[in-house]
Amino acid sequence: MSVGIVGVGSYLPHKILTNFDLEKMVDTSNEWIRTRTGISERRIVDDDVNISDIAVEAAKKALLNAGLEIKDIDLIILATCSPEMVMPSTSCLVQKKLGAKTIPAFDMLAGCTGLIYAITTGAQFIETGMYKKVLVIGADALSRHLDWTDRATCVLFGDGAGAVVLGEVEDGYGILSNYLAATGAGAELLRIPAGGSGMPATEESFEKKLHCIQMSGGEVFKFASRALPQATKAVLKRANLTLADVKYIIPHQANIRILETAAKKLGVDFNKLIKNIDKYGNTSTASIAIALDELQRANKIHEGDILLLVGFGAGLTWGANVIKWGGNKKNR
Ligand code: COA
Repeated sequence: MSVGIVGVGSYLPHKILTNFDLEKMVDTSNEWIRTRTGISERRIVDDDVNISDIAVEAAKKALLNAGLEIKDIDLIILATCSPEMVMPSTSCLVQKKLGAKTIPAFDMLAGCTGLIYAITTGAQFIETGMYKKVLVIGADALSRHLDWTDRATCVLFGDGAGAVVLGEVEDGYGILSNYLAATGAGAELLRIPAGGSGMPATEESFEKKLHCIQMSGGEVFKFASRALPQATKAVLKRANLTLADVKYIIPHQANIRILETAAKKLGVDFNKLIKNIDKYGNTSTASIAIALDELQRANKIHEGDILLLVGFGAGLTWGANVIKWGGNKKNR
């Protein structure tokens, strides 16, 4: 059976935080942020908004785009790095808000690669015949985990949500190959140390800002610049395709220079890589789905196009999917 993406949606909070706003908050400059990261502005959720809220908005748009309703969905997988709380899963909060009755829902914690892991996982349930339609969401509000006095991290991230609906498509279309990888050896390079059972919240953890993102920027940069081309090559090999077959590479948006380095290593035209980091920063698990949704809404994806989704992030994790777009039996 062939499984593909039959609907896409995304949601960005309305509040914009520009580099110029950040200049007033930390010792940084628009010039530094733009040239070192490619980011001009990012979106931030309002205080009374949670990631289940933005996840629901993205999910509703993906369902609408698929021509489906929540009652048609058999499973929800929500990828995130900023769960609304430790327990219950954010996916269960989303399930309730979407008005789903008892369909299973679980969270996928795989760093910024979460969407790739979740698409790969969701597709397996359809391929085995267990479920027909799976809603995959990537939603993050990492603004809630930033130390707004740390210029090395607070300029990088933004909030947002993206969603895809997976379903059966015509033979030959849909997901052609998947590639997933992880190395816990790099776990300390990018993390939020406190708030879990290993280091519950204490006055000390709060004072030391251990609930905020800690990152070895240079090391993560090197890892990402290696992981992106490696996953791209590996997933293409599994699909028996080459870069020449790919219409668009839709990479996780973390730093424009990571994408430049990766494109050079791959020897691929930089225009083949989709970029929207200037507007949203690093939206973590949401970034690939947001970029896919924007491409689709701009009518830039056509039936039969080969898309390569590729991500990397905390864990360390990385991975990719190759998808032949279209072949939707009912909806497209
Ligand atoms: N504004 C101004 N200066 C800043 C700054 C900021 N926002 N952040 C760091 N700097 C300074 C540093 O303090 C350092 O100053 P120093 O030389 O006086 O010590 C200088 O800029 C260079 O820092 P460096 O860390 O070498 O910069 P960089 O070019 O490596 O860029 C990152 C830093 C974080 C942008 C980059 O390493 C990166 O993007 N890493 C990957 C991050 C990532 O993708 N994370 C998520 C993965 S999912």
